[in-house]
Amino acid sequence: MSLSSLSKRLCPYYTKCPLPGPLMALGAYMAWDTVKNLALDYYFPKDLSGQVAVITGAGSGIGRGIAVSLAKIGVKVALWDLNVPGMEETMRMVKEVGGEGAIYKVNVCDKELVYSTAKKVTADLGDCTILINNAGIVTGKSILDVEDSKASLTLGVNTESHFWTVKAFLPHMIATDNGHIVTIASAAGLVGVAGLCDYCASKFGARGFNEALRLELRKMKKYNVHTLSVCPYFINTGMFDGVKTRFPFGFLLPILEPSYVVHKIVQGMRRRRTELRMPRLMYCSDLLHFIFPTYVKDFIFEIIGFSNSMDAFVQTR
Ligand SMILES: NC(=O)c1ccc[n+]([C@@H]2O[C@H](COP(=O)([O-])OP(=O)(O)OC[C@H]3O[C@@H](n4cnc5c(N)ncnc54)[C@H](O)[C@@H]3O)[C@@H](O)[C@H]2O)c1
Repeated sequence: MSLSSLSKRLCPYYTKCPLPGPLMALGAYMAWDTVKNLALDYYFPKDLSGQVAVITGAGSGIGRGIAVSLAKIGVKVALWDLNVPGMEETMRMVKEVGGEGAIYKVNVCDKELVYSTAKKVTADLGDCTILINNAGIVTGKSILDVEDSKASLTLGVNTESHFWTVKAFLPHMIATDNGHIVTIASAAGLVGVAGLCDYCASKFGARGFNEALRLELRKMKKYNVHTLSVCPYFINTGMFDGVKTRFPFGFLLPILEPSYVVHKIVQGMRRRRTELRMPRLMYCSDLLHFIFPTYVKDFIFEIIGFSNSMDAFVQTR
């Protein structure tokens, strides 16, 4: 059966449709494939129990939440951070929910330390099959105010470190065609924000890294090494203390609760999602870039208050 006659069968209104037959067939196939995959992922989520997860920045905020949530579903957690008391508190919470794991004091910018600690994790807990690149910092200073060393550090922690952690753990994932790499980027990796040049550069970079990695894995036909990029708007963890959404747009862009973000991330991993944006409005950001000329888009950002969101920022980290 030719593609054109197949498309006629799939769509009885084909004769009235201006699209060529092969395009109709491709559209119908893509729609079917998407519905099938969504249904499969929803009803048969990925089983993460028994796996070993390395979570960077696990001493507080989102990293702590992910560690506890994964421990609850039977994942062994390796907590990586510079903040030892923070990690001890996370480990106490992990044990409280019946989980197990270990803590490792690691500066994720220190490549050699990342590689040697990765070996320690394998010896202590087993091969890592889940990597959550979550450690992050923010200066919140405009381009001329930010110290050179702080701008470099932001790029080092938020982007460059992903190279070292992924290079440390990916070979085993590829060899066994089993793994999950989660990149905690940000909505600031989708749109620029005034006062966040270094942070936006690092988060656009992290998203780009994740996207290229996904395509490399696809090229290698490692379909069971999943990647997930996470782009949340501001979260109430203290990292962006003081920031607010301009009145009356809070209902469109609410400051997110950490428990909601953590729930969505773990659910997204189980459903094999490739990208999560929170709140849902962030999915429209590409449309905004696509439809409007830059000055209209910038004007919309000013009205919503994006451009002034950092004005009340208080550095707490
Ligand atoms: N809080 C928000 O509004 C928000 C919004 C979007 C994205 N994010 C991203 O989510 C992630 C988690 O943020 P959070 O709100 O939980 O912040 P947080 O400050 O509570 O947690 C970040 C953790 O990273 C650790 N860390 C920093 N530098 C490190 C280094 N060199 N080596 C190892 N660990 C290091 C810190 O000690 C801290 O425990 C970050 O990547 C952040 O950029 C946060």
